[in-house]
Amino acid sequence: MTKKKAHLLGFVQHGVNSHATGMWRHPKDKVGWDFARPEYWQHMGRTMERGMFDAMFIADELAPYNTFENSSDATVKWAVQCPTHEPSTIAPIVTGATRHLGVGVTLSTAFEHPYSMCRRLSSLDHLSGGRIAWNIVGSYSRSEWDAYGASMDDRSRRYDRIEEYVDLCKKLWNSWEPDAIIADKARGIYADPAKVREVVHEGEFFRCRARHFCSPSPQGHPVLWQAGSSERGRDFAAKHAEAIFAIHPDVAQMKAYSDDLTRRSVETFARPEGSVKLIYGVQPIVAETRAEAEDKHAFITSLLPKQGSMAMLSGQLSIDFSLFDPNSLLKDVEVPGIQGVKDALVRSGVGVDVTLGEAADIYAMRFAMPAIVGSPRDVADQLETFMEDGGADGFMLLATYTPGCFEEFAVLVTPELQRRGRLRTAYAGATLRENLRQN
Ligand SMILES: Cc1cc2nc3c(=O)[nH]c(=O)nc-3n(C[C@H](O)[C@H](O)[C@H](O)COP(=O)(O)O)c2cc1C
Repeated sequence: MTKKKAHLLGFVQHGVNSHATGMWRHPKDKVGWDFARPEYWQHMGRTMERGMFDAMFIADELAPYNTFENSSDATVKWAVQCPTHEPSTIAPIVTGATRHLGVGVTLSTAFEHPYSMCRRLSSLDHLSGGRIAWNIVGSYSRSEWDAYGASMDDRSRRYDRIEEYVDLCKKLWNSWEPDAIIADKARGIYADPAKVREVVHEGEFFRCRARHFCSPSPQGHPVLWQAGSSERGRDFAAKHAEAIFAIHPDVAQMKAYSDDLTRRSVETFARPEGSVKLIYGVQPIVAETRAEAEDKHAFITSLLPKQGSMAMLSGQLSIDFSLFDPNSLLKDVEVPGIQGVKDALVRSGVGVDVTLGEAADIYAMRFAMPAIVGSPRDVADQLETFMEDGGADGFMLLATYTPGCFEEFAVLVTPELQRRGRLRTAYAGATLRENLRQN
């Protein structure tokens, strides 16, 4: 029997830091590279392609977190995912420098009309030859709503809006018939208007009356990606997503999530089994030997700024933790922000409930993902276990320092996974969707 192969994604942001908050201080971070320049992204893309990744995955939020101490001071001071530049701008640079690698772009539905979102994503899908995924998010952080001068909707309303948003996007993307373009130069007819439907939408949140301005892109629409994990988030993902990004601290919780998501997508939404790829976050810290990897891990951990960690946790969970005792238990706090992150953190204490102080440190280092520290064989063993016993189809690899951590993964872990038959040796298809479906 052929073994299931891993889908790999490099998890980054278009900024000085990604999620490991001490990253920019690391002596090996961005040596000779400027994150705001195309050369850096071209190199990152080529490195991930050398590692046989499916895609680079660019996380985003729309403004610096301002929840901690009711201010964005700590966010700016400690480089807590700040500065962060717009994510979709790098997609053509990455796909222009690679042949197979996809790019997942996080774009929020909160403040942009679906019409321009569809147009932007179709344009990117064309320019990349069909290698774009859209991570659909709804702006969980108060800072984003403040930046746009709006008051934050509660989770349920955010999902109502996202539902309608995606429905309208699908109407626009599906409005051109495959044979709408005639391009008959002799008769001067470019397209058949009967085959390009005008979309008329009158909904609770959006109105639209227009034809989609872009012709059908290579994938028809970008790969739809989601990371919600509340009840509403899981249903939305089970209904719409082609791939899901989730964080679970151990194999038992991965398995429970896989079973739940599969049940929802098959039983509730009648989708064929396997149509949603389950991609779990992990933070690999790899070196030639286990001892070296452990030293490396200890050093990276020592770079974390304490106050920056609290600012990050406050931002992502949308609560001001400066008002709480750091020894209080996270499980007792209701959060309006990312539910999946809170759940993963609550369960990541080793046999005890995690305190706010511990949660902040875990979070600012590894985003509540399991850290896999060891030799290439250790890392491959752990990934295999997550696939076999946890139901993982692949992994979102959290950066520690860039581009070095991905270079190391490509050199050390990629060949080990390939030797075990757990990673492709060639890309199967031309588009991201085809590669993501490759078994
Ligand atoms: C692993 C993970 C990564 C996420 N990355 C982002 C991101 O980069 N930008 C963003 O706005 N939301 C991000 N989110 C938030 C979700 O997509 C979602 O909007 C949010 O979690 C609220 O939904 P929920 O309460 O169902 O989890 C992420 C969530 C998870 C679990």
